[in-house]
Amino acid sequence: MVHTIVVGGTRGLGREVAKTLGIAGHRISVLGRKEPPQKDGNILGAQYYQCDLADERSLKKKLDSLVKTQGKPSYIVFCQRYRGQGSDWQGELGVTLTATKTIIETLENKFTRSGDKGIVMVSSVFAERVGDGQPVGYHVCKAGLNQMMRFFAVKLGPKGIRVNAVTPFTFLKEESKEFYLKNKPLHDLYRRMIPLGRMATSEDSAKAVAFLCSSQASFISGQNLYIDGGLSLVWPETLARKIAAL
Ligand SMILES: NC(=O)c1ccc[n+]([C@@H]2O[C@H](COP(=O)([O-])OP(=O)(O)OC[C@H]3O[C@@H](n4cnc5c(N)ncnc54)[C@H](OP(=O)(O)O)[C@@H]3O)[C@@H](O)[C@H]2O)c1
Repeated sequence: MVHTIVVGGTRGLGREVAKTLGIAGHRISVLGRKEPPQKDGNILGAQYYQCDLADERSLKKKLDSLVKTQGKPSYIVFCQRYRGQGSDWQGELGVTLTATKTIIETLENKFTRSGDKGIVMVSSVFAERVGDGQPVGYHVCKAGLNQMMRFFAVKLGPKGIRVNAVTPFTFLKEESKEFYLKNKPLHDLYRRMIPLGRMATSEDSAKAVAFLCSSQASFISGQNLYIDGGLSLVWPETLARKIAAL
């Protein structure tokens, strides 16, 4: 059975990824600080490993015990997002960049020998664009993550490990969908702006991750797949004219 580690798989998109891959028959190990409450239904036999990604020493120990108990991984998916109280600059650096690098370097020689192998990083449009609501650290670390993806795609290629990213536009997830569904003017505006005519959901991104974590993507490496319904192609002036006509 294919073993996949989902980093930040306790909530949001990570949880959806763990669920989608679990249904596809992967054995799932989830890393996060808090196991989700049983009432939310844990994912099809997933094993939860509690650890703070910002604590490098305990992270390495946790990875050791994870591989001992669950076996060598075929895939690692990075879905974590810094959600802390302290300095968001240090927090973003630690949780988004350092933890990703540490996990890859700790496990790069512990992947399964045979079959398809890969790493997927969840990035953001803020790696390339500048937007409200996120601090400079989020922008800078997502940009760094994209380059880390390219670096490891080249470095790990000879080991047969493919490395890719997905870049979702704001998506409806369990935790946030009520906000967008209740905020009708904003929701309607998004639907008008996006060529596919609807907001994204966490399932849309999870399905793209599942594709990249399969032999269907066997010769795809170093790519950043946008999951935005075509929005990034629309010229801002076109959007402005659409909004002005509302
Ligand atoms: N939401 C969006 O619309 C959106 C749009 C574009 C891109 N993204 C990207 O998509 C990914 C998922 O976003 P999301 O909104 O679904 O995130 P989320 O709901 O906030 O979930 C974040 C995950 O990261 C884990 N995590 C955070 N800090 C951690 C730490 N110090 N140690 C261990 N685990 C930690 C959390 O687990 P615990 O709380 O259990 O520790 C949780 O499982 C992120 O990379 C985000 O940047 C999101």
